[in-house]
Amino acid sequence: MVPRAMVGVMTNPGVFADLAALRGCWHPAGFSADLDAGPMAAELLGEPLVLWRGRDGAVRVLSDVCVHRGTALSLGWVSGDEIVCAYHGWRYGGDGRCSAIPQLSDPSQVPAKARVPAFRAQERYGVVWVALAEPRWPLPEVPELEDSGWVAVSAGPYVWGCDAARQVENFTDLGHFPWVHPGLLGDPARPVVPRHDVRTEGHVLRYEIVRPEAPNSDDFPVFGNEQAGPPERRSRYELHLPYTIALRLGWGGERGMVYLFASQPVAAGRCAGYVVIGRNYNLDQDDQLIRDFEDTIFGQDQVVVESQRPDRVPFDLAAELHLRFDAVAVAYRKAMRAHGLAASSYPERMTSS
Ligand code: FES
Ligand SMILES: [Fe+2]
Repeated sequence: MVPRAMVGVMTNPGVFADLAALRGCWHPAGFSADLDAGPMAAELLGEPLVLWRGRDGAVRVLSDVCVHRGTALSLGWVSGDEIVCAYHGWRYGGDGRCSAIPQLSDPSQVPAKARVPAFRAQERYGVVWVALAEPRWPLPEVPELEDSGWVAVSAGPYVWGCDAARQVENFTDLGHFPWVHPGLLGDPARPVVPRHDVRTEGHVLRYEIVRPEAPNSDDFPVFGNEQAGPPERRSRYELHLPYTIALRLGWGGERGMVYLFASQPVAAGRCAGYVVIGRNYNLDQDDQLIRDFEDTIFGQDQVVVESQRPDRVPFDLAAELHLRFDAVAVAYRKAMRAHGLAASSYPERMTSS
């Protein structure tokens, strides 16, 4: 008789994101502002993490599992440069080593095994980025977000029940705007996707489109176009594998807007999208207006994307049906496989079941 676990695998083989390979990439794990309140729990690629700021202000990241009894270290508190476990008060430094065990008559007599895994982190663009293994590529450069002539506002995180690749593909999907966001990002009377070519350069995909868009709506006057009629918007996309996008919008003048979007692969079927939006116009506009706009857009997308089956992007090009206007998804799926970030789960699971 075929074991039940194996039946599931045999009827649902496929090429999906490879969580082990994704450890060697930078991923968002929180907004910088979230760390101000003390230690924070996060999950990345199924790994529970605790993040806190050390005395020097730099972010520390450890496994969120105390080596003593498995308590979440994020329940504890920061003392000096260390985090203190809430259960028995063991103290850990940013390198993951336990430095004191209060139950011992000499608390500093700590056995060498008393340590938890430590990971690398950096803060940039108001986001905390974590890599669980040596990162293969640096973060994308978005100088606008570090330019004093621009203002930035964050939105999200948007926590969805799908894999990070589904969320990224949705952000790059050009055909859905008039259908899912009529009046906000697209015009149902203009459903044709403009021609665009995707260039894959190493781990970065680049493409751009010029399209008539929905005019600024009265509810959300967030874009930089000034004319009343259908404006022309130039959108330049950079998709940095695996899950980060820099999108630059222009209307032919000085006004510019940049979107940094990064999806956190929380676990195989769960993700969280972080958005940082920069602009060099309407500098005094209330941040909440842009946040409300993004909440609306991401809310419209979430319903559709969470209904997709499978809940993870199938990276085998024979899966799903691709037409020419899906060129970005095709290039993305090819590049993720070419870089070893998506792999067949079939043989591995066959041998382990
Ligand atoms: S479980 Fe953390 S100190 Fe005991
Ligand atoms: Fe959308």
